[in-house]
Amino acid sequence: MKHLPILCLLAGLFALPLTGCYYDNEEDLYPDPNACDTTDISYVTHIAPVLSVQCFSCHAQDVYNDIGGGINLDGHANVNTVAQNNQLYPAIAHTGDFQMPKGGAKLPDCTIAQFKSWIDAGAPNN
Ligand code: HEC
Repeated sequence: MKHLPILCLLAGLFALPLTGCYYDNEEDLYPDPNACDTTDISYVTHIAPVLSVQCFSCHAQDVYNDIGGGINLDGHANVNTVAQNNQLYPAIAHTGDFQMPKGGAKLPDCTIAQFKSWIDAGAPNN
């Protein structure tokens, strides 16, 4: 096999473009499962469902006066008022006088960060 060296050289030349410039970007291949997306937070998609599940037992329209301390979290206009009054974020972040959900586990950090992002954006009806 007197042509072996030249064959190896050719094989190497063909293989190089296929392998030499290919690299894996870990972040593209495996997005961080713990990553928290706080961009473009929507009232309808991100905020209202959490309030409905975690807060409506005490803060829905029909019960808030009796067991929700007079805080109405039912509907965007009411939530916006509580957010703009700077009551909503301290309550869920547990940095204020009242820690919500009352008697329940603190919301996940990502959910709290998403609320903050939405409140900082003016608590829009989006
Ligand atoms: C078990 C009933 C209950 C649940 C569930 C609950 N709350 Fe409350 N919340 C209250 C009561 C009662 C008050 C009045 C203050 C107090 O007595 O602690 C209150 C007060 C508040 C206030 C006013 C805080 C202030 O600074 O005056 C906010 C904002 C609030 N809740 C938000 C929430 C949010 C958001 C959730 C869900 C993540 C939630 N609450 C879940 C009962 C509840």
